[in-house]
Amino acid sequence: MDSISLNGNKQTPEDFELQTKLKASGRIPEHIAIIMDGNGRWAKTKGNIRIFGHKAGVDSVRDATEVCAQLGVKYLTLYAFSTENWRRPSAEVSALMNLLVQALRRETKKLNENDIRLNAIGQIERFPKQCQKQLAEALEITKDNNRMQLCLALSYSGRWDITQAVRKIADAVKSGDINPEDIDDNLINDHLVTADIPDPDLIIRTSGEFRISNFLLWQLAYSELYITNTFWPDFRRDELYKAIESYQKRERRFGKISEQVAETSSST
Ligand code: IPE
Ligand code: IPE
Ligand code: MG
Repeated sequence: MDSISLNGNKQTPEDFELQTKLKASGRIPEHIAIIMDGNGRWAKTKGNIRIFGHKAGVDSVRDATEVCAQLGVKYLTLYAFSTENWRRPSAEVSALMNLLVQALRRETKKLNENDIRLNAIGQIERFPKQCQKQLAEALEITKDNNRMQLCLALSYSGRWDITQAVRKIADAVKSGDINPEDIDDNLINDHLVTADIPDPDLIIRTSGEFRISNFLLWQLAYSELYITNTFWPDFRRDELYKAIESYQKRERRFGKISEQVAETSSST
């Protein structure tokens, strides 16, 4: 199965060509993570209420998922709801929860048909029961899929993630399963909720804010950042292509100097 469609439309030949060029011009990131911001402001520019923007944002999620799967991205992580977002007016929070349930109901079948596995990270137990049930169902249905993993960060924050890892490690030390000297980068990594996911290569933030807002704090150590002024509901495939083009032009040195990086990339 090669062609991928989440919206029921066939890919246009022009789009196929753009993707072929992008694949030829450099590396496609293995893991893209997106801070989907600007739904409220987008709605405001249309003279509408915030939830209108969240609804429109679902279409951008579908498009980003489809494009990433078509390009061969293996992991797409979407920041959908932060720990701090619980502080929003309760009407907005419950509207977001309803939207999540609706989207899962509507989209799971298509994800499954396209061999996409859904994953979720965060304090899922804080969500309303119906949300948890819908989510568990979608995770179960898609669990054996291999083309790409779509990971939703829900009631997630980087500090929460690090804190829960520290707790688990402290417990293991207390019970004598590990010694404090055993604690290193890898061990910490293995206790984060992203243990099975490689660190993001590219982090995109929409709506022009130059901040991380408590996203993948540990995991982003060497991620490339791309910030666009476009609000999330307007972020469609052309924008994603631009972000990947920008990523392809970066030199990822991981602390080394340029000459060393050139040496390793020419010998591989
Ligand atoms: C991002 O859009 C979606 C969530 C955080 C749930 P916002 O709702 O933050 O939109 P702005 O930033 O207020 O425009
Ligand atoms: C970040 O957006 C969280 C999500 C996109 C889910 P926010 O809108 O919550 O971030 P701040 O408050 O502007 O930093
Ligand atoms: Mg925002």
